[in-house]
Amino acid sequence: MVKRKSCIFISGSGTNLKALIKSSKNYNFPIDISFVITNNKNANGLQFAKLHKIPFKTFNLNNYREKEKALNQLRKKKIKLICLAGYMKILPKDFIQKFNGKIINIHPSLLPKFKGLNTFEKVLIKKEKKTGCTVHFVTDKLDDGKIILKKFFYIDKEDNIQSLKKKTQKLEYNAFSEAIIKVMK
Ligand code: GRF
Repeated sequence: MVKRKSCIFISGSGTNLKALIKSSKNYNFPIDISFVITNNKNANGLQFAKLHKIPFKTFNLNNYREKEKALNQLRKKKIKLICLAGYMKILPKDFIQKFNGKIINIHPSLLPKFKGLNTFEKVLIKKEKKTGCTVHFVTDKLDDGKIILKKFFYIDKEDNIQSLKKKTQKLEYNAFSEAIIKVMK
């Protein structure tokens, strides 16, 4: 199968990147990971790019010149899909427009519930019965674009922020890959 080229954006631990790299090694998976972009040169997740010899770059996309450089690289590398995997910056509007419909994000709640930060805390305060993750297209409104898929689990009485995070992230690894298969069909 001819795989399309993708770029993964990360800011932190990069465990979703790790899972996506694993999926991309599968012959039938529709994308190759050709590039990793971060806003944080110390992001732990960069270790996975290094390990798998995937080129990576640090850009501050709020700086005009750096944004132009990033756009150039993405064009040059013929990137067809951008996956935000724990990317903690808001993308500039014109950047989103240039890749309209080609940027997807994973969010650790069942959207449209609990957009933004501190989702696990909010879920506990609201005494939700279930929670999970959502993969969605990125628009210029925060955590608001068309939903591609969601995965959920039921919350136990004993759950706390840490355990919710752990359970959610476990779901995320499959959810992201499934969503990519769905959008690249
Ligand atoms: C994930 O929980 C994702 O939903 C959120 O940020 C976290 C990133 O984790 N947007 P990692 O960097 O992939 O380990």
